[in-house]
Amino acid sequence: MKMTITPAKRLAGEIRVPGDKSISHRAIMLGSIAQGDTYVDHFLMSEDCLSTIRAFRQMGVPIQIIDSNSVIVKGQGLRGLKAPRSALDVGNSGTTARLLTGLLSGQSFSSTITGDESLRRRPMDRVIIPLRKMGAQVSGIQDRYLPLSIRGSTLKGIDYSMPMASAQVKSCLILATLYADSPSFICEPAPSRNHTELMLQAFGGRLETDGNLITAYPADRLYSQQVHVPGDISSAAFFITAGLLVPNSNIILKGVGLNPTRTGVLEVYKEMGGSIAIENVSISGGEKRGDIIVKASHLKGTVIGGQLIPRLIDEIPVIALAATQAEGTTIIKDAQELKVKESNRIATVVDLLSRLGASIEATDDGMVIHGPTPLKGNVADSFGDHRLAMTAAIAGLIARGETTINGWECVNISFPGFYDMLKELQN
Ligand code: S3P
Repeated sequence: MKMTITPAKRLAGEIRVPGDKSISHRAIMLGSIAQGDTYVDHFLMSEDCLSTIRAFRQMGVPIQIIDSNSVIVKGQGLRGLKAPRSALDVGNSGTTARLLTGLLSGQSFSSTITGDESLRRRPMDRVIIPLRKMGAQVSGIQDRYLPLSIRGSTLKGIDYSMPMASAQVKSCLILATLYADSPSFICEPAPSRNHTELMLQAFGGRLETDGNLITAYPADRLYSQQVHVPGDISSAAFFITAGLLVPNSNIILKGVGLNPTRTGVLEVYKEMGGSIAIENVSISGGEKRGDIIVKASHLKGTVIGGQLIPRLIDEIPVIALAATQAEGTTIIKDAQELKVKESNRIATVVDLLSRLGASIEATDDGMVIHGPTPLKGNVADSFGDHRLAMTAAIAGLIARGETTINGWECVNISFPGFYDMLKELQN
């Protein structure tokens, strides 16, 4: 499907972006293995999260979709999942694939996880290697790719230094440890999103963190919760960027998740001179949230790297777009992980933005952008990557002429309703 975007004169208004994808996945997973009913509101009803629901339904968990953004998960207890009758197809969702691999390694049954063409190209050895050290029996194509066959086995805790900062790997090991006979000590090179840690504690699981070291413990039972999912800052990032770039804009994003492991994008935009303010802060289930007020701003270039990268990894495509409009050079480095996302985001971001007239070069671990450059509408491809498609749409608001995006349907992976919300801000 194609989408055509034309320039916007001004963006104004108040919006509430859909629920956080990472937190929505985890609510289904922990709810499924807890005792009792877990009620989730502002759940993200997107393709990725529906893949998680489907997988747990296949394992005998009744999950009721109440309305467009709330679900009830009828928890079956830690040992209550049932052997799925067919392979668990998790579509495009890397989070589902990796977290589920950990969770299934310690079950008393065998299972298979597969995914779509894009996910079958993404590396799974990052979870296979440590899980095998825990005693898991997991095998994949070339020991690296989906489909993965998992034979449930007795697990032991692990002492593991992760080679990359990845919340998916960390969460996979924490979930596997619930079924192990001893604790795990997991060290990450830089802090990545800690939603699993926070939610597991809310569900009654034991876990300790000390700097970059996490001690995860086996569990006997988890207790159902009410989960109030905050707005997804990764979805908000598209509108925050649009608000900064489209002249005279003034927008308010209500109830956005502000977990400090996710707010790198706000820090970078402030550093670049962006007018961003936070109001009405509150905390629920350990997760901070608040309203974000954005006004059109004159930006300047910056350097983004090191420990900041995991805190804004999913926002880099749209941050790169902002950098094309900033005065001076922006350097994004230490971001090799971009190569193994839904597309190779170093290559695809550079392709997209240079096609629209930006001055941008790929480097081995990121990109260098010289600004400001006027953008010119063109035909762009989503590369089947939802964040690329939405970045192209925001670019289309400030580009001269029309921007047409091929393969638009992938926005449903994380943000159904994106286009309508964009239109709402233009009225
Ligand atoms: C996620 C972790 C990140 C992120 C992804 C969601 C999660 O991936 O890019 O969109 O929910 O744990 P990595 O753990 O591979 O960095």
